[in-house]
Amino acid sequence: MAKIIVEGNGPLNGKIKISGAKNAALPLICAGLLTADPFTLTNVPDLRDINTLLDLLKSFGAQTSFKDSTVKIDAKDITSTTAEYDLVSQMRASVLVLGPLVARFGKARVSLPGGCAIGSRPVDLHLSGLEALGAKIDLHEGYIEATAEDGLKGAHITFPKVSVGATENIMMAAVLAKGQTILSNAAREPEIVDLGECLKAMGAKIKGLGDDTIIIEGVDELHGCEHAVVADRIEAGTYMIAAAMTGGNVTITHCRPDHLDALITPMKLAGIMIETTADTINVERPKGQKIQAVDIMTEPYPGFPTDLQAQFMAMLTLSEGAGMVTETIFENRFMHVPELARMGAHINVHQASALVRGTDKLKGAQVMATDLRASVSLVLAGLVAEGKTHVNRIYHLERGYENLVDKLSACGAKLKRVND
Ligand code: UD1
Repeated sequence: MAKIIVEGNGPLNGKIKISGAKNAALPLICAGLLTADPFTLTNVPDLRDINTLLDLLKSFGAQTSFKDSTVKIDAKDITSTTAEYDLVSQMRASVLVLGPLVARFGKARVSLPGGCAIGSRPVDLHLSGLEALGAKIDLHEGYIEATAEDGLKGAHITFPKVSVGATENIMMAAVLAKGQTILSNAAREPEIVDLGECLKAMGAKIKGLGDDTIIIEGVDELHGCEHAVVADRIEAGTYMIAAAMTGGNVTITHCRPDHLDALITPMKLAGIMIETTADTINVERPKGQKIQAVDIMTEPYPGFPTDLQAQFMAMLTLSEGAGMVTETIFENRFMHVPELARMGAHINVHQASALVRGTDKLKGAQVMATDLRASVSLVLAGLVAEGKTHVNRIYHLERGYENLVDKLSACGAKLKRVND
């Protein structure tokens, strides 16, 4: 099994180019199932999850290619609408094929998903949303069986809880449903907006993207298009935190600072200097400036992203004072806490909150995580720890970060990937 060995090597300095967002690319690839025309996505990150999803589309009979950050999909001749356990169990986002398949073919059989081990992560909102659009849903031998023989029909759906995935799935179903669909309490993440813009370029009629009410007028069919995937705000945020932790000066390029207000504000409060242009962010922690403790609470966008919670906590372990991290999106998303503690961090967890008391030094250790963002937080901690940190089981990490080792090394970090 592969691991990353990191050695504390002082401040990071340089430039890091941000890739397209995994969490936008995944639903966008599923949107390729909505049309019989050729469909092209550019700025796609080369990650395990992307390749897993393309394999899933191939298993339906779609033709796909992935080269030079460009994905091409031709879903003209679909021969199967069953998403088998073997592929779906590797990645939770596979459930996003459900909406497009039912909308275009009137049926889908999708294994119940797997993915990171962060809480129970049900798919009830995806299923009740599809039912509201007229699909008949059965759960049978670990598979979701959805049928809509006469097609889907528009409806007013109020999500009881904000869900990124359910909003995406139902949007992709509603664009081909008959009549109007209104989604209330919809997610507002930039990845939702990106999906909606792509669907519009395919001929869908959608209003309210970025608001919590999205209105969709169904159309009979969608055509192909070419769409560039939005920049990965979580990747950008991760490197911003790395720069701050190491006391360096890093310019993050090809990113969307306007999607990162919820991180920029607490980082500035922590004493980090941040300057932005339309597509770059410069992060600097001046010499002698200690990181000040601040409190954060994860919330749906535009709140603080749960996908940056572990990284921000790693930063707080080095702060002056004590900061409270409250996780409101996922239960069981503090798996990095015992691992950071192995490196000398002082953290007390009580229910959904973790109190982080800053320390002067972290120490390298053997650590391991079973969640993508938790894993990267351990790499960040390793960048500033005394000695070597072995981040074991990087399977999940490689699902989400394109060229992590190269990008950090180019700024002076000392780390390598090794196969055990
Ligand atoms: C997406 C992101 C993930 C991010 C999360 C929250 C992708 C591929 N993944 O995950 O990186 O951490 O948004 O920003 O885009 N829930 C239900 N029932 C459902 C669906 C969700 O109760 O049917 C709950 C979840 O358990 C969780 C909350 O709603 O507590 C939010 O989950 P959701 O926004 O759906 O996350 P994902 O789309 O799975």
